[in-house]
Amino acid sequence: MLQQPEICFLASEVYPFSKTGGLGDVMGILPLTLSKMGVKVCIITPLYGRICTASYKLRLMYENIPVDYPWPGVKADVYKADYQGIPVYFIERGEYFDRRHYYCTYKGDYFDNCERFIFLCRASLSLIKKFDRAPIILHAHDWHTALAVAYIYFWRRNDPFWSKTSTVFTIHNLAFHGRFSSRLFWDCGLPYEAWNMDGVEFYNSFNFLKAGIAYADQITTVSPTYAQEILTPEFGCGLEGLLQKRRNFLSGILNGADYSVWSPENDAFLDAKYSWQDLEGKKQCKIKLFRSLGLRDEMLDRPLLGFIGRLRRQKGIDLLLEIIPDLVQRNVSVVVLGQGNSFFEVKLMEMVEKYPGYVSAIVGYTEEMAHKVLAGSDIFLMPSRYEPCGLTQMYSLRYGTPPVATAVGGLKDTIIPYPQEGATGFMFDEPRADAFLHGIDQALDVFKNKTIWQQIQIRAMEADYSWDMSAKIYLEIYKRLGLEA
Ligand code: ADP
Ligand code: GLC
Repeated sequence: MLQQPEICFLASEVYPFSKTGGLGDVMGILPLTLSKMGVKVCIITPLYGRICTASYKLRLMYENIPVDYPWPGVKADVYKADYQGIPVYFIERGEYFDRRHYYCTYKGDYFDNCERFIFLCRASLSLIKKFDRAPIILHAHDWHTALAVAYIYFWRRNDPFWSKTSTVFTIHNLAFHGRFSSRLFWDCGLPYEAWNMDGVEFYNSFNFLKAGIAYADQITTVSPTYAQEILTPEFGCGLEGLLQKRRNFLSGILNGADYSVWSPENDAFLDAKYSWQDLEGKKQCKIKLFRSLGLRDEMLDRPLLGFIGRLRRQKGIDLLLEIIPDLVQRNVSVVVLGQGNSFFEVKLMEMVEKYPGYVSAIVGYTEEMAHKVLAGSDIFLMPSRYEPCGLTQMYSLRYGTPPVATAVGGLKDTIIPYPQEGATGFMFDEPRADAFLHGIDQALDVFKNKTIWQQIQIRAMEADYSWDMSAKIYLEIYKRLGLEA
């Protein structure tokens, strides 16, 4: 028998093992924070081929757990690692997860994503069946694990094992539905009853995210502003109707930052450490970054603008590309770290060629470069069209790199825009190139006044978005659903 968790987290990424974005970061710290508050948690996630297990020993826990999907007799193996005292269970089935990428290649999504993530959900629940008791809460994240919520909703009617389990479903990004052909619904194991407008059917396709929204006992998303935005047609991605129906069960809880990983005082990736009391190290970080990127030395006294993120429309990378000539004209330099849409990657490289020494890009992603860009830049750019929460701006605040960001979602909830009292950054309303440039101009103008700039930097660095507060709000929800703590 396995040890008995009160809350099981299900997620397709968990830092430091796997990560394509903020979901991974959240899963690497929220369960840990709860565990430090005395809650017994575990995490279940896939064993990807590219998983990073360097400092963690994986043990084979179970062989041949019955999953019976996509046909009877199909099984999974389960590995386990101890992540700072938390059991992390990895679902193994090579043909689904032992691949070069997590969800897609440059050619598009993996053709069998539907099958892969039905398998993950079913295998996770089979694993839980090995526990003495079901967890009090199953907390699933994003579309990849949303079906687990629906299985429990239907299974707990007849299976006493699940009768006391409640479910929480967190939407990290409403735009990713996990939408598949209707014919793939029929053998996923949900009853016919689920195939309707208020269930998993979405314009005659099978929609995983809807399973989470329709059947969870509590739905959360990752910032209060986004929780409001997704009720509107502008941000609701076609799901605003169902979300409105379930709005009494929806709340927005702001993510936090893991300051044990993201703090310039103790950042092992940095060439020099610094803090709000002493910013000298930040200058060293800028010099090192400049040299490593081949930026022009004579620009060292001019502002360096940094961007880190997935190169997708969500992040407004097209807006940045559009204004690069204007930025070069303003005699500032730009560094971009990211990967994603190959169209944007090519455009970016064209800009690097056109403006050598002014524009630099690292197409790809490493944790090390993310830390170095955050520390070495003066201003951080986040022109997102929508942003459920956004973690990079929280990190940029902590690194004394005030952000220029769109006034949407979690950006609104975490940045106090200049010239407001207590400003920590700059914001603009519409995700348009001219508005973005205007926001940057405002920042460049303030940058000239070293005293005011430093005040903004220091306030930004002192802002506290640690997980303790948000984890307490989750805890309240879990208690309402039956957790005794
Ligand atoms: P999102 O989750 O929408 O990408 P967040 O700001 O919440 O945005 O989180 C971004 C996190 O992912 C940060 O830790 C950032 O450094 C990291 N990141 C950005 N781009 C990539 C990438 N291409 N691959 C992996 N991680 C990335
Ligand atoms: C998603 C969102 C991002 C959020 C992250 C973690 O990827 O795009 O805004 O911070 O999830 O919740």
